[in-house]
Amino acid sequence: MRLTQYFLPTLKENPAEAQIVSHRLMLRAGMIRQSSAGIYSWLPMGFKVLQKIEQIVREEQDAAGCQEVLMPTIQPAELWRESGRYDDYGAEMLRIKDRHGRDMLYGPTNEEQITEIFKASTKSYKQLPKLLYHIQWKFRDEVRPRFGVMRGREFLMKDAYSFDLDYEGAVRAYRKFFVAYLRTFARMGLKAIPMQADSGPIGGDMSHEFQILADTGESRVFCHKDFLKFDPLQSEIDFDADLKPIVDKWTGLYAAADEKHDPAKCPVPADQLLDARGIEVGHIFYFGTKYSAPLGANVDGPDGKSTTVHMGSYGIGVSRLAGAIIEASHDAAGIIWPESVAPFQVGLINLKVGDAKTDALSGDLYAKLKQKKIDVLYDDRDERAGAKFADMDLIGLPWQIVVGPRGAASGTVEVKNRKSGEKAEMPLEQALAKVAPKAV
Ligand SMILES: Nc1ncnc2c1ncn2[C@@H]1O[C@H](COP(=O)(O)OP(=O)(O)O)[C@@H](O)[C@H]1O
Ligand SMILES: [Mg+2]
Repeated sequence: MRLTQYFLPTLKENPAEAQIVSHRLMLRAGMIRQSSAGIYSWLPMGFKVLQKIEQIVREEQDAAGCQEVLMPTIQPAELWRESGRYDDYGAEMLRIKDRHGRDMLYGPTNEEQITEIFKASTKSYKQLPKLLYHIQWKFRDEVRPRFGVMRGREFLMKDAYSFDLDYEGAVRAYRKFFVAYLRTFARMGLKAIPMQADSGPIGGDMSHEFQILADTGESRVFCHKDFLKFDPLQSEIDFDADLKPIVDKWTGLYAAADEKHDPAKCPVPADQLLDARGIEVGHIFYFGTKYSAPLGANVDGPDGKSTTVHMGSYGIGVSRLAGAIIEASHDAAGIIWPESVAPFQVGLINLKVGDAKTDALSGDLYAKLKQKKIDVLYDDRDERAGAKFADMDLIGLPWQIVVGPRGAASGTVEVKNRKSGEKAEMPLEQALAKVAPKAV
């Protein structure tokens, strides 16, 4: 993509309304634009990042054996009356009437909807287990939308639901999601710590929030300091194998969200306890028959008797992650995208547009990168070098290749790694190999 043709409305100044760094950088890098409080449009570069995050989430859900569906954003109120949540949900729910006066709502979550879909076609325990998910916009009329996409009113969530015959089955499903979440966040360059969370009326220990440690996080969290030494889960997983050892490793150390932390009962000595702030990027939850019972999601068990299925739900804040990744990875100059979610792999800077040699070498590199299927943003603007460098650092692409008149004369370019700051002069072919070692 040529920058002269790209819609990238960057800002020089820090927007006054943005209180945290990810919100500032997303606005400054032209990723998003506010429509109304807590509701954003995603501009080309922001949307690319959002899609990359979404794709990683999707791949890991698929790997865990979860099947993708797409449920509507607008739901009928009846379903929520059946579960009893229509009144309980309160002012956070956006309620709508259609032209016939029927009560509808913009879904804040989908337990009722998915349970209705499930029960319509599942009659026997032989059809279990079932894991289903979708990635869909949610609306919650938050009292205090803030921090940009971190706490929005309209936001993109991956929500999955599991259906099992009994508690043991639900435990197996829960572990699959637990492990898939560790993988998902690791692929985004994040270390998410699973923390015991409030499990609501059912009790038990099957509710975890996945928290990214960050000073700007909204949640207060407590965890054993040894979590800082854990490596994110990179290895391939066989989701049909016993996942208990992995779950045990990640739950073996104490970690709890504020609501669940009781200083009087905390097993960790004060000098080993981290009292920090976290960004909740995911939440997994076993809730038994809370929805299946009122909505009548029953199957015939092995003994022929009708039995109510056990369910869990598993959320990931897809749009929140765009902000969370920036909170975890930036410096004073701007964003530092992990390669896996970067909007472009390479930023190509032509330092002297109009100079025959730099134009030719830049054009040649641009063509070769595209040929190798490497996503490249080519800064072909007639701008000062300083402005080009500043913009490229701001948008945070993993690699920068700088073509100047001096190097162009000898066929060399400068390659800079955005994260390490390392720079080196090298011939064009070597530069190509450096920024894309795996490309064909
Ligand atoms: N207002 C919001 N804006 C952006 N992301 C959100 C918002 N509310 C929830 N999420 C994301 O969706 C995930 C699942 O939501 P859930 O746990 O149901 O929400 P909550 O923790 O607010 O009750 C959360 O872990 C979080 O990452
Ligand atoms: Mg939550």
